[in-house]
Amino acid sequence: MLLTDCIDKIIECWRDPEVYNAAIKIYALLPPLFAPILFWIDAPYGRFAGKLLFDWSFGGKYAWCIMEGVSPVMYTLSMLLVTPTTTPHEWQPSQVLLYGMWMTHYINRAFIHPYRAPSMAPIHSFAFLSAIFINVLNGYTNGVWNAGHAFPLSSTHVALGFGLWITGFAINIYHDNILFNLRRVKNANQRYFIPRGGLFEYVSCPNYLGETIEWAGLAIITGGSYPALAFLATTVGNLFPRANRAHAWYKDQFKTEYPSSRKAIIPYIL
Ligand SMILES: NC(=O)c1ccc[n+]([C@@H]2O[C@H](COP(=O)([O-])OP(=O)(O)OC[C@H]3O[C@@H](n4cnc5c(N)ncnc54)[C@H](OP(=O)(O)O)[C@@H]3O)[C@@H](O)[C@H]2O)c1
Repeated sequence: MLLTDCIDKIIECWRDPEVYNAAIKIYALLPPLFAPILFWIDAPYGRFAGKLLFDWSFGGKYAWCIMEGVSPVMYTLSMLLVTPTTTPHEWQPSQVLLYGMWMTHYINRAFIHPYRAPSMAPIHSFAFLSAIFINVLNGYTNGVWNAGHAFPLSSTHVALGFGLWITGFAINIYHDNILFNLRRVKNANQRYFIPRGGLFEYVSCPNYLGETIEWAGLAIITGGSYPALAFLATTVGNLFPRANRAHAWYKDQFKTEYPSSRKAIIPYIL
């Protein structure tokens, strides 16, 4: 088969509503399958980096760029391939807004975040490949949805959703930054410190809380679209167990030094 035939076949699949529906179903099944496991097993990256069955890990910074870069590429291709009759300057305002939000988040996550981090622990190939799989589904389903929908921006749910999204984005970046600064200015022989300031006074993982608020905002803007809800569920299913494990790790690591009033991810509650 010629390369061009291959490309045509891929584009045909990309536009096929049955493929899209199947992808949504797979995406929606992931959180109930993996979230319970993540309450017991640490995803092997960051502070829990290490061997899982076999010792095959990638350098943290490069791995984050690649695995998170997949989502904006899939999203952009979906926007361009699914509505081939329109070019970006013909997109409706709501489509431009959602596209801009997606790119803003992922340019930070894939490029600025790893660039600014003083160092990042290795990522096991299992975590790396899982993240790529999720980001393919994520970028593809959300991009196809945006390509096929437009809505007026002047409604309460859009204002509320966007307000939540931008608040969550700011919380996420602010607290990631506190963590970066800790490693930048403190003792070079130690990797992890007790974070202080901002919402760290209330929870161990405010960056995860911010990320969750962001994607709740997106789900609200889209009026509860299936891909945005699946993304929110995947984020909760991923980050809530991780926050729980990280919180337990902090208490175990720093013992009585660790503030006892802190919760894992939701102030005063969880
Ligand atoms: N939407 C999703 O499903 C999803 C999933 C995963 C992550 N994320 C987002 O991606 C970002 C990174 O996630 P993550 O799990 O790597 O977050 P994290 O564990 O909080 O780590 C963030 C950065 O800070 C460093 N760090 C963490 N705790 C530290 C401490 N106590 N002292 C000094 N440095 C510390 C880490 O270094 P090391 O790498 O060396 O640990 C890493 O570079 C977060 O903003 C998160 O919200 C989103």
